[in-house]
Amino acid sequence: MKQEIRERTKWFMDARFGMFIHWGLYAIPACGEWVMSEKEMSAEEYRTYFEQFDPYDYDPKKWVSLAKEAGMKYIVLTAKHHDGFCLFDSKLTEYKSTNTKAGKDLVREFTDACREAGLKVGLYYSVIDWHHPDFPKYGDRQHPMRNKEEYKGEKIDFDRYLAYMHGQVKELVTGYGKLDLLWFDFSYDDMAGEKWKATELVEMVRSYQPDVIIDNRLEGAGDNHGSITTEHPLPYSGDFASPEQIIPPKGVCDDKGEPIPWELCATMNNHWGYCNFDHEYKTSKMLIRKLVECVSKGGNMILNVGPDARGNIPEESVKILKEIGIWMAKNNESIYGCGISELPKPEWGRYTQKGDTIYAHVYEEPLGALPLYGIRPERLKNVIYLADGSEMNRGEAWNTVLYPDVAFVSFGENPVFTYPLPDEKDTVLKIQMKE
Ligand code: GLC
Repeated sequence: MKQEIRERTKWFMDARFGMFIHWGLYAIPACGEWVMSEKEMSAEEYRTYFEQFDPYDYDPKKWVSLAKEAGMKYIVLTAKHHDGFCLFDSKLTEYKSTNTKAGKDLVREFTDACREAGLKVGLYYSVIDWHHPDFPKYGDRQHPMRNKEEYKGEKIDFDRYLAYMHGQVKELVTGYGKLDLLWFDFSYDDMAGEKWKATELVEMVRSYQPDVIIDNRLEGAGDNHGSITTEHPLPYSGDFASPEQIIPPKGVCDDKGEPIPWELCATMNNHWGYCNFDHEYKTSKMLIRKLVECVSKGGNMILNVGPDARGNIPEESVKILKEIGIWMAKNNESIYGCGISELPKPEWGRYTQKGDTIYAHVYEEPLGALPLYGIRPERLKNVIYLADGSEMNRGEAWNTVLYPDVAFVSFGENPVFTYPLPDEKDTVLKIQMKE
């Protein structure tokens, strides 16, 4: 991995946990952000949502404080999604929030709120655009007009679209202060890399925002890392890989086997944009464990919320994020700045590690004492129950003498007895070794 990527992504790799916000006109039909494509709606048909859009509860300070409470360190908002609608005051289009009943630049209020709360700020920008007249339509993989014969052979000027797209990205990187992250989405078929004039785009971005972290989707997507994992990454291969809705079984490594930065993007239910009939929410317990899994494999997790048409994050999401926050408040030390452990995965849970300190994330209660796999008893200095700082009892007893190579701890007074785990979501033990 290039030294400059390592330096640039330092804060990101330490942060480990972020919030993704998918929000736009699609909150009104309330069935996810792909509705325009799925229902093959024309730009005119979809415009009804532009006319209705009136998010009178919009208060990004509330979103930001919820993210903070959940223990998230950065937030990424969809400045423009595939439908082409802009949440910012672009001079290059009238299709923007300032021209709706919202009447303001929603991105600006968002970036201000993040900075005020001390969170890193990111913007998502879709290079795909189903509203712009010069974006390819007939026969495209997902354009709403892909099946409409009348667009067959239509003359478009794709360079005009590129000028528009580059111009909007320039507006974002020059008009909203220091951006910490840019999340481009996404490339497919031949719509990738230089088709977007990606080298030029990235050079322009870096000329204004030298430290901004960029994802890998000017070249790739959820199904393709692009050249970021190869020995010769292209100039637009990005700073991190972006697996979507799946945790890479072994993390993400380059061709030489060296781990590279990556971020799992995941939804809390099964949609990114607000969906009023999707109540398949993951539990806080599951999401905490998925976050731990990402960290234990050297990655981040950016967890999505889809605010509704009034601008409120769904109640279910709020509840889950608050629960995660309760766990994070006591256990974030085992997440921030942590990564892959030198020890193999223990069968009762996972290890994360920061420097010489190992964090045991215990999911399955032991019968009797808990074996700290990979740790010899004489190497152990102490084991702390992280949530309250208390020292754990050693678990070695008459029945562990058969296993002299592994240290044991007990969750109670008597190492031969069985005790419930103090935190059924994830009981974290902080393990320190002797020098
Ligand atoms: C996908 C989808 C998109 C979503 C993104 C988030 O590529 O097209 O709707 O914004 O993933 O990762």
